[in-house]
Amino acid sequence: MYRSHNCGELNASNINTEVTLAGWVQKSRDKGFMNWVDLRDRYGITQLIFDESRTDKTVFELAKTLGREFVIQVKGTVIEREAKNKNIPTGEIEILVSELTILNTALTPPFTIEDETDGGEDIRMKYRYLDIRRNPVKNSLLFRHKVAMEVRKYLSDLDFCEVETPYLIKSTPEGARDFVVPSRMNEGQFYALPQSPQTFKQLLMVGGMDKYFQIVKCFRDEDLRADRQPEFTQIDCEMAFVEQEDILNIFEGLTRHLLKEIKGIEVDKFPRITYDYAMKTYGNDKPDIRFGMKFGELNEYAQHKEFPVFNAAELVVGIAVPGAGNYTRKEIDGLIDWVKRPQVGASGMVYVKCNEDGTYKSSVDKFYDQDDLTNWAKATEANPGDMIFVLSGPANKTRAQLSALRMELATRLGLRNPEEFAPLWVVDFPLLELDEESGRYHAMHHPFTSPKPEDMALLETEPGKVRANAYDMVLNGNEIGGGSIRIHDKATQQLMFKYLGFTEEEAKAQFGFLMDAFQFGAPPHGGLAFGLDRLVAILGGQETIRDFIAFPKNNSGRDVMIDAPAAIDDAQLKELHIKIDMI
Ligand code: AMO
Repeated sequence: MYRSHNCGELNASNINTEVTLAGWVQKSRDKGFMNWVDLRDRYGITQLIFDESRTDKTVFELAKTLGREFVIQVKGTVIEREAKNKNIPTGEIEILVSELTILNTALTPPFTIEDETDGGEDIRMKYRYLDIRRNPVKNSLLFRHKVAMEVRKYLSDLDFCEVETPYLIKSTPEGARDFVVPSRMNEGQFYALPQSPQTFKQLLMVGGMDKYFQIVKCFRDEDLRADRQPEFTQIDCEMAFVEQEDILNIFEGLTRHLLKEIKGIEVDKFPRITYDYAMKTYGNDKPDIRFGMKFGELNEYAQHKEFPVFNAAELVVGIAVPGAGNYTRKEIDGLIDWVKRPQVGASGMVYVKCNEDGTYKSSVDKFYDQDDLTNWAKATEANPGDMIFVLSGPANKTRAQLSALRMELATRLGLRNPEEFAPLWVVDFPLLELDEESGRYHAMHHPFTSPKPEDMALLETEPGKVRANAYDMVLNGNEIGGGSIRIHDKATQQLMFKYLGFTEEEAKAQFGFLMDAFQFGAPPHGGLAFGLDRLVAILGGQETIRDFIAFPKNNSGRDVMIDAPAAIDDAQLKELHIKIDMI
């Protein structure tokens, strides 16, 4: 038996017990005649004591050779500590060691295995297994496990059945590029790794599974960001014989359950807003509603004077920043520079100080009088002491710019409290989105999403106006899940592919299997998928998902620990019938 207890469980009630422990040497303090060693494992830290007068001489000498991260086993007696440490559960006791075995030595780790480490991101990723020994990473993985278990429990109790779907498949379009895998047995042919199990879960509905879920890896070759990894995990769900309302209720219930079980927070019914409202009010389809700063559209109050910039703009829109009325000229100029950075792209910014006495002072006083500015303040819901910032230009771009400013200011003002949770649904997404480069429409969610029946007629005339039975769940400014009611008849699915620019042959070649299945009694169905990594990160009070993934990729999609991706040898390439011409 390697151990009788773990390093986190012994306390005063165990005094005088003989125990065996195993773990890693966190640190030792050698005072000559007395040597203390902190022994660590996943469960905690227990202090060991080697005392010249009470410990066998060979054991005492061996203890002096222990280095950081050596793996050891000790036998000894639990005794009361002289200097107690109230901060840790084992802080009242220590182990007077009688036997010591070095199970393995360790090189000096390249960074300290402490909560606050001296190791930078790159070195920690290269030695991720050492990083995982640190509490913050270890606790994130344990936290992820807890969330996943709660999800499984909640959905299983509601009769959802977890079914595994294949990874070696054909392309499922979710808007990213596919990762492909060459087939040795089928020369010149490739599998695609699933961007999601979308088509398979729909086929499970045709198969009568009724309620499906899967905690499943998805693969997308897309540009990486803090909230995106090339392989990530979804809580993927689908249900038959449901309407949008059923799905929103069930998965709102799941999220509410998680907030309660994991965070101890009770949340009321989630607000629902339409996509159009989200874009007009927050400039964003995943608004952070923990704070206000709603957009006020000002065209009506700003285009009747001689200010050419506003007059030429499609949209003039502002936000009132609470308590920012006392910003100095330097702070304001800093913000103007911030919105002019290429990442944001505004050409300039107008500001209005809302004085405590109810008057206004703006950067465009030459053009606008107090009555005009009063209207601006009303439209942006500004109070005395606030500052209104106004941007103008093409509507979509200007909304995106103001949204970026809104989020930046909220961060600077400390309004994005990670321990506050503000979930909501965004509904009525457009079915189609115009790709400005190709001039073609593509599916905003995915091509299997059902248009709203009442908007079907618009498909021929104004495709951009057709709304879908599609919805996203948003939490603290992050899209944590999305889904839709699906098309479940062949004719409509065929029509959809046609609108998306597929020829009949292309549609048949890629998705014939799904349209065929629709002819064999496909029930009405719909579902959604949560991003588990994102959900876990946000519940954990963070937005970087990497910290909640055991072995993540870096921003170039590399695993720097195993050094992947990597070249493969010629024999393997030949077997796969692949020729590489380096240009
Ligand atoms: P969607 O593409 O919206 O929908 O994905 C669902 C959720 O997955 C998460 N997500 C990601 N997380 C980390 N890294 C990524 N690269 C990444 N991409 C997406 C997001 C997102 O909300 N099949 C549909 C669902 C459905 O219609 O049922 C789908 O995959 O949190």
